[in-house]
Amino acid sequence: MADQTDNLLYEGKAKRVFTTDDAKVLLHTYKDDATAFNAKKRGSWEGKGKTNATMSAALFSYLEANGVPTHFIEQVDDTTIKTKYLTMLPVEIVVRNLATGSIKRMLDFEEGRKFKAPIVELCYKDDSLDDPLVNWYHLRELGVSDEDLEFCEELGLKVNSVLAPFFDERGIILVDFKIEVGKDESGQAMLADEISPDTCRFWDKETNEKLDKDRFRNDMGGVEDAYAEMLRRVTAS
Ligand code: TMP
Repeated sequence: MADQTDNLLYEGKAKRVFTTDDAKVLLHTYKDDATAFNAKKRGSWEGKGKTNATMSAALFSYLEANGVPTHFIEQVDDTTIKTKYLTMLPVEIVVRNLATGSIKRMLDFEEGRKFKAPIVELCYKDDSLDDPLVNWYHLRELGVSDEDLEFCEELGLKVNSVLAPFFDERGIILVDFKIEVGKDESGQAMLADEISPDTCRFWDKETNEKLDKDRFRNDMGGVEDAYAEMLRRVTAS
C-alpha cells in the first residue's frame, strides 16, 4: 500500500504511480475506475483494481519464469504492485491472433477471423492524437531507435507465444493485447505497464463469451463478473 512517504508521480485513468524512498522503485496502485475511447466514456466497478493488479503480478511472474524481462518486483497488496522505475518508450505494441476491434474496421475483416500468423502493430503513445497506428519510419522520426523497435516487435511475439498457451490451458482465447516497454537506468529494455482485461481481449474457448473490457466499451453488461472470472482462471492452480 502506498503511504505518506510515497509521492504521487503520475495519475492515469485507471492507476496511480508513486515514487518510493528507493529511487529505482515505483508503486502502481490500480483503481476501480475505467475509461474508454480516450476517456470520452467513464465508469467504475468493484474489484477492477484488484483484478488488474493481481493478474498483472501473476502474468509478469509467469513471463519472467519464461525468459521475458519485466519491470515487476512484487505484489504489495490487493491493488498495488512494486516495479522497477523505467523510462518509457512512446510506443504501444499490439499483437493480434483473431480479428476484432480496430483491425476489423480498418481492413473490413470478419469478426473472429483467425490470422495465419500473429499480427504486430506499433502505435505512437499520445492521447492527444488518440495513439495512432504508425510504422518504423514514423517512430524513427519521433526518436525511437531501430534497436528498440526490433525489441518491441520481438517482445510482442514472445509474450504472445508464452501467454496464448497459458490462457488456452485455462479455457481462454487470447484474442489480442497491448503492451508497453521501458528502460531501466542501465538502458536495459523490458516489458512494463500492465497485462489485464483492460489491455487484452479474452474470449471463452467454449462459448466465445467476452471476458474483458469490451463489455464496458460496448455496454454489454456483466463486466464486473467478467473481470472476477478472469482473475479466478488466472490464479486457479
Ligand atoms: P484495438 O482493436 O481497439 O486497436 O485494441 C487492440 C488491443 O489493445 C486490445 O486488446 C485492447 C488494447 N487497448 C489498450 O490496451 N488500450 C487502448 O487504449 C486501446 C484502444 C486498446
